[in-house]
Amino acid sequence: MDLQKICEEVCLLAKETGRFLKSEIGKISAADIEIKGFNDFVTYVDKTSEKKIVNSLQRLLPEAGFIVEEKTVTAKGERYNWIVDPLDGTTNFIHGLPCYSVSIALTEGDEVILGVVYEVNLEECFYAYKGGKAFLNGKEISVSDKHKVSDALVATGFPYYDYSELGRYMQLFTYFLKNSHGIRRLGSAAVDLVYVACGRFEAFFEYGLKPWDVAAGAFIITRAGGKVSDFKGGSDYLFGQQIVATNFALADEFEEIVKEVF
Ligand code: IPD
Repeated sequence: MDLQKICEEVCLLAKETGRFLKSEIGKISAADIEIKGFNDFVTYVDKTSEKKIVNSLQRLLPEAGFIVEEKTVTAKGERYNWIVDPLDGTTNFIHGLPCYSVSIALTEGDEVILGVVYEVNLEECFYAYKGGKAFLNGKEISVSDKHKVSDALVATGFPYYDYSELGRYMQLFTYFLKNSHGIRRLGSAAVDLVYVACGRFEAFFEYGLKPWDVAAGAFIITRAGGKVSDFKGGSDYLFGQQIVATNFALADEFEEIVKEVF
């Protein structure tokens, strides 16, 4: 399989989807917003984008199946699967906030082998494939080399539907608030992750995320020299709904802090 060629095609597809998303921003009315669950929204834009992505990916790799946010397709592949979030940052999008992305990953068995995250507003396409480096718009990227949490800019996603871990989350939040350069909440986990990959953030943590939020971004971090784990330091971050991502240099310190709380 020519992963480089497939990655190029997926980047083009993510950019095309991004153009569609941008053309729809500001057109969403209250009647267009469906509620999937508490504070969990979807619009015709998410669904239309997903259908377009799925159709193109089916042509690109007919044997692959899908794990997709809006469930416009459910067929699982035996060997290959695409993990797709057609619009990561739906809440930002609905409110007209310019930070949202398209996230597409390819897995072979349990392993992610390709990831593309396209942040629509800055027209930044982050990508990587197995055996290669990580790139942003054609330029190689790598994680930062800051090795102390006290020098780190930390990203997170606020719990918004599952408050079962809110107490421990707030403990961590308070710690990083007082002991780092600061905390940011962008509203698109895929973007948080690729910002770790290119050195804008040193670390990211969130619970309650789904595979389509993290698959591509987490993979890109690993190709850019960073580290991704679950809250216990294990590898169950894709389906386990807990993720810690760092630039590697401060991984030990950051993970220890998370482990002490969770
Ligand atoms: C959301 C974004 C957000 C994160 C949420 C996700 P969606 O994805 O990634 O940053 O905090 O947990 O659900 O629903 O907009 O695709």
